Amino acid sequence: MNRMFKAGVIGATGYTGLEVVRLIRAHPALRLVFATSESEAGRAAGGTDLRYVPAETAPLAEVDVVFSCLPSGESGLWAVRAAAAGLAAVDLSADLREPGTGAVYGLPELWRDEVRGARLIANPGCYPTGILVGLAPLLRAGLVDRGRSLIIDAASGVTGAGRNARRDLLFGEVAEDYRAYGVGNRHRHVPEIGVGLARLAGPAEFVFTPHLLPIRRGILETIYVPVPDGVNAAVLAAACRTAYAAEPFVAVLDELPAVRDTVGRNVVALGFADVAGQSQRLVLLVAAFDNLLKGAAGQAIQNANLMLGLPEQEGLPQ
Ligand SMILES: NC(=O)c1ccc[n+]([C@@H]2O[C@H](COP(=O)([O-])OP(=O)(O)OC[C@H]3O[C@@H](n4cnc5c(N)ncnc54)[C@H](OP(=O)(O)O)[C@@H]3O)[C@@H](O)[C@H]2O)c1
Repeated sequence: MNRMFKAGVIGATGYTGLEVVRLIRAHPALRLVFATSESEAGRAAGGTDLRYVPAETAPLAEVDVVFSCLPSGESGLWAVRAAAAGLAAVDLSADLREPGTGAVYGLPELWRDEVRGARLIANPGCYPTGILVGLAPLLRAGLVDRGRSLIIDAASGVTGAGRNARRDLLFGEVAEDYRAYGVGNRHRHVPEIGVGLARLAGPAEFVFTPHLLPIRRGILETIYVPVPDGVNAAVLAAACRTAYAAEPFVAVLDELPAVRDTVGRNVVALGFADVAGQSQRLVLLVAAFDNLLKGAAGQAIQNANLMLGLPEQEGLPQ
């Protein structure tokens, strides 16, 4: 019989924590041993036979792997604590994503070997995941005109903002609306995107504009890629197909992807389109994925699988 690994989830009542718990329950080699919540401590953890415990009383010594799903500012401390105790730890927050934190940036499709040997993983941000997966083969193959900026328009469903009550996220505020936020490269994912792009092929200029989309989950990113003469959508699609031929969690489509094709799956779907009647030599790259799966909990399980020596796809919906 295959080895079972014991898992704990810190911050298990949030949107990503709930999703990590759901994936662990369906995972053939993981068993949930604890789930923490401050606000619901003592109550039954839905769908499990456990009760939520406060994080301070979580039995870290009893598990092999910990997923920390707290807000940024708190989450990383718990992941560092777990890794220091010898456990495999995945932090879903932004706390450990900058270089120099001691954590490995866990984007397996791009830097898998580093994830395999790691104890402490900084799980990537949702928006950066699609951007980096989509652009990596193009940058690495020299198919992007580095003299011009990448323009990245992105939209996320409201679960991307977390489950805590906020007036600006009330149904009455977001329903039947669509708006940009964090404009002018002010969103907190901008440094992470910059570091990731630079790692791929040197510093790249980009303009990142996120939007709030009144759906529950899912992200769509439209990237205007400046290309050298002679490069078109077919060339970019071919480069991605070659790079991701063996990747179970990246789909390069013949058409442009839609959010609903990816919700519930741990997949980034990519599509390309030429722009008619223009002289700017731009190609459109569209990436769609589930912010709570490939953008968070699914990627976290993928990273944990690699760290624990399990098959990377184990327990993940494709
Ligand atoms: N949502 C996404 O799409 C997404 C994607 C990628 C990464 N992330 C990152 O993943 C982490 C969790 O995100 P989330 O969307 O799951 O957040 P969330 O829905 O707001 O959940 C936060 C969790 O932390 C707990 N918590 C403990 N102390 C807290 C405090 N002082 N303030 C607020 N909550 C506290 C909350 O439950 P109790 O109050 O019951 O303890 C809850 O379980 C964040 O760092 C976020 O940046 C989120």
